Amino acid sequence: MKKGLKALSVLMILALVTVLAAACGSKNGDSGSSSKVSIGIVLPTKSEERWIQDEQRFKDALKGSKYTTSVLFSEGSSAKEAENVETLINKGIKVLIICPFDGTAAGAAVKKAKDAGITVISYDRLIMNTDAVDYYVTFDSKTVGAKQAQYLVDHAKGSGQPLYLYAGAATDNNAFQFFEGSWEVLQPKIADGTFKIANSSEAQALASKATLTHEEEAKIIGQVTTLWDPNEAKNKAQTHLTAAAADMKGDVAILAPNDGTSRSIADVFAADSAIKSYVITGQDADKSSIQYIIDGKQSMTVFKDVRTLVKDAMGVALNILDGKTVETNGVSNNGNKDVPSKQTDVISVDKDNVKEKLVDSGYYQASDFKGL
Ligand code: BGC
Repeated sequence: MKKGLKALSVLMILALVTVLAAACGSKNGDSGSSSKVSIGIVLPTKSEERWIQDEQRFKDALKGSKYTTSVLFSEGSSAKEAENVETLINKGIKVLIICPFDGTAAGAAVKKAKDAGITVISYDRLIMNTDAVDYYVTFDSKTVGAKQAQYLVDHAKGSGQPLYLYAGAATDNNAFQFFEGSWEVLQPKIADGTFKIANSSEAQALASKATLTHEEEAKIIGQVTTLWDPNEAKNKAQTHLTAAAADMKGDVAILAPNDGTSRSIADVFAADSAIKSYVITGQDADKSSIQYIIDGKQSMTVFKDVRTLVKDAMGVALNILDGKTVETNGVSNNGNKDVPSKQTDVISVDKDNVKEKLVDSGYYQASDFKGL
């Protein structure tokens, strides 16, 4: 082939490759398998409303961005999560935003990303015991637990009220944060006789301790965990009510760690004729739980404005991509290092302020709900 022609065909091939790459890549959302992606996002599961909310808010936030992104779900499996991270590394991402399914197991996956020169942002849940996390964006999780507990205290009926405790998955550091925040508010009210613990001998054994160690929390969580799974929550609630003596029924208080588990626990308590009334907590402002609150089936939720979390995570990612300084407002220790962190406030919501906080604020549409 003549030199000139060869140069021309090289140019044509280059042009073709560029056109193909542009066709495969999609800004503002999922991208094709072979395209270059600048920000990779990994979320734990599609089977909880919470994480679908996050996916949608990421998509909203990315409209008009010049950067390409890809959102992958880990289907509640650390193996799938590691595979997702690998896929994103191969797509050439510069920043990884990841909410781990299991906070400790995710360490190995993000280490690979870090070794490939990628900046790692832990999203909502902290990745534990590794130095391969650069930033952490999250909500004030201890306050989530404190607000849930405060609601139970504020709505306690008389004294000696049965208190049912439930917690998140022990593989999630947030579950400890929530429980710690709740315990600090509930413990004095257990000590003064306002509440009596109905379903946890471990919590009962620690009832006089105002502050618990991580190991002590682990004992209680191990006994009353929902694994963040509504089915597990339902089974546990059924077991507890079957075992409960008559004086552990009547008007009861229930600490449920999030909305998905709250709805299934609430359904079990509502079906027991010896339960006269129940006050039950939640968190996430799932649409289904907002409907439960309107219908009087769930008492409250803790609203965590996912738009803000997405904005914070994207803000950190874009600053990294643009070579700018990243602003944080604290640190969170993950057992290996103090991770620079950004924390967002949370809001307690019940039937009295649900319209104001979730509909008038533009977070949801009134038409999403019946009877508002
Ligand atoms: C999140 C909650 C969520 C829970 C279960 C926690 O880490 O902070 O918003 O409900 O996981 O997925």
